[in-house]
Amino acid sequence: MPAVSDSSPPRRSLATVLLCVCLQAPAALPLFDAHIHYNDDVRQLLPPGRALALLAQAGIEPRDDPETSRKLILDTSHPLVKFVLIRATDVPTYVQWGAADIGVAGKDVLMEHGGDGLYEPLDLKIARCRMMVAGHPGADIGTRRIRIATKYVNSARAFFAARGQQVETIKLYGSMELAPLVGLSEVIVDLVESGNTLKANGLVPMDFIMDISSRLIINRASLKMKNQAIKQVIEKIEQAVNEPAIDL
Ligand code: PRP
Repeated sequence: MPAVSDSSPPRRSLATVLLCVCLQAPAALPLFDAHIHYNDDVRQLLPPGRALALLAQAGIEPRDDPETSRKLILDTSHPLVKFVLIRATDVPTYVQWGAADIGVAGKDVLMEHGGDGLYEPLDLKIARCRMMVAGHPGADIGTRRIRIATKYVNSARAFFAARGQQVETIKLYGSMELAPLVGLSEVIVDLVESGNTLKANGLVPMDFIMDISSRLIINRASLKMKNQAIKQVIEKIEQAVNEPAIDL
């Protein structure tokens, strides 16, 4: 087994981790007042990249580089905030169970999760794309029973059920575009941003399902218990969303 050292390459890609931010502040006190001693606990989940930029604009930056650090919990420039690295698809679960009070999750992930126990107050307007049905040009998906390969089984079923079509879904975890190419399914339900991946594989978008972007999510119980602190976080991030300092 190879030796593990601090200079080893990162094991996590930025696309697959999120940051859980642990804020320790009483609900009644202003979170961003550095002179106050905090003893309660608010936790927040945030993904890296553009969401990190938004958070930095709100005055919270990780002390360690989340791309290279092996730690799962990172200190930040804010004495009350910690970032915890987890997978994007786990964020709604952490927030739902109150292991984190606040998180950022893609609308696609939220639709699959179902949103139980979550309040979704803010569209961060980043990571924008569309969830689409796609397949070979001219593929007849009509009203017959078709096979769909997708990460988004619940969203796909709901979309086709709403138009009265029974479908068979095959759960995949990536590279959905391969499925129609090798005959695993007639179509896929996937995210489309530039459309280049579909094009490169000879596929075309067929039906629009929904617009996707990153959303701020809050644990409903935390929102009541730590209302003041959480409202301040939302306001800070909302300001950053409305007046981004960098091109997001
Ligand atoms: C996403 C999505 C498509 C691609 C679309 O994949 O699943 O494959 O991006 O982007 P485009 O329209 O700009 O080409 P991602 O890279 O996230 O990997 P995945 O296949 O593991 O989901």
